[in-house]
Amino acid sequence: MGVSRTRLTNRRALVVNHLRSLQKGGLHDLNETHLSDPSRRRSEAEEIMRIGVIPESAEERQALEAGMVPTPLFETQLAFTLAQVVMVGAQLGVFDALADERATAAQVAERCGTHPEATGKLLLALAGAGYVQGDGESYELTTLARTWLVRESPHCITDKLLFQFHEWDLMAGSADYVRTGRPAEVHEHMSDQQWGLYQRGMRAMAAAPAQEAAQLIPVPADARTLLDIGGSHGYYSVALCRRHPGLRAVVLDLPEALQHAAPLLAAEKMGDRVTHREGDVLNDDLGTDAYDIVLMVSVAHHFSADENHALAQRAARALRPGGVFVVVEPFRVDPAGDISQFGALTEFYFGLTSSAGTWSHGEIAEWQRQAGLAPAAPTTLANAGFGIQSAAKPVHRTRS
Ligand SMILES: C[S@@+](CC[C@H](N)C(=O)[O-])C[C@H]1O[C@@H](n2cnc3c(N)ncnc32)[C@H](O)[C@@H]1O
Repeated sequence: MGVSRTRLTNRRALVVNHLRSLQKGGLHDLNETHLSDPSRRRSEAEEIMRIGVIPESAEERQALEAGMVPTPLFETQLAFTLAQVVMVGAQLGVFDALADERATAAQVAERCGTHPEATGKLLLALAGAGYVQGDGESYELTTLARTWLVRESPHCITDKLLFQFHEWDLMAGSADYVRTGRPAEVHEHMSDQQWGLYQRGMRAMAAAPAQEAAQLIPVPADARTLLDIGGSHGYYSVALCRRHPGLRAVVLDLPEALQHAAPLLAAEKMGDRVTHREGDVLNDDLGTDAYDIVLMVSVAHHFSADENHALAQRAARALRPGGVFVVVEPFRVDPAGDISQFGALTEFYFGLTSSAGTWSHGEIAEWQRQAGLAPAAPTTLANAGFGIQSAAKPVHRTRS
């Protein structure tokens, strides 16, 4: 019996393709396949990524179906142990220590400066969880770890796992939050070091979805200007500007964020095509008829319904006629109207951390509609439960 990372049914072929394309060095194959087959996209929208208890034998399956398995134990004790061993493996450099060659526990301990016996237990736990595999003497990385947890991989999310130690502490305040309704308000209480971890973590998470979003976002013909609200590292803007050579982007974020996001954007070498602007989107003037695209990725869940409603009005004003307001978010309910595990758990997480929560695509579309925009049908990203809700500013034609 184990805790699954995902329910793989008709996603399996995609994931296998994805890993093959990663091995070839890019996401191109996955994304082109994903985008060019609408039936596949529909079926994916119906499939929801989730974690849960998966039986590993016929007897375990029967026990699970008969309700004899203490699921809450697996989803707590085993889940938090799994989370800690993977995070600690990343924090201590265990995956990087195995990147070039297989090694014994003693060799890994020497490379990481850790205790040999305890490192052996960690490696055994990681083997049980599918991150490394051993032959009784030494260990090597699995494709899973090599893809996501090795610094030299373009898809490395180690920086996000490092930020998760802060998120772990925030989650420990869950009972207080439910008792009092008082959230942690992360953006107001982070140390400078935590801001650095946050921004690098967001950049690590953006690698694959930014490229996919850049293909799905409806960029108006001849679009020249993009405002990326809460854009941090700017990688979504970078991906869009690389795809649309005539486009330039301004990435707006809080000063505390930009101090750490600046080197991340500089590394993309986009020069003055993608620039940072310090500010607070809830209070700053966004301009009038100034942009062809206003983009907001993973920001709406930090704001209340009233704040999002007002922001949509200002985004609409900032758009030129024909421009689009694009919101990318983890949808609380999927487009079929079902509550997903991912959407529901992130709703709680963002309530605890930011006093807001996740939104349905219908709620986002309503803010857009009330701002005078014409919402399009939502699109789902293959990556991690996110969706795109975009809306266009009407072009008013003068009568002849
Ligand atoms: C979850 S991160 C998303 C970053 C990026 N858009 C991405 O998807 O990777 C949210 C970002 O919104 C920024 N943010 C939060 N409140 C803001 C505000 N009032 N004005 C501008 N940016 C804000 C945060 O600093 C942070 O960089």
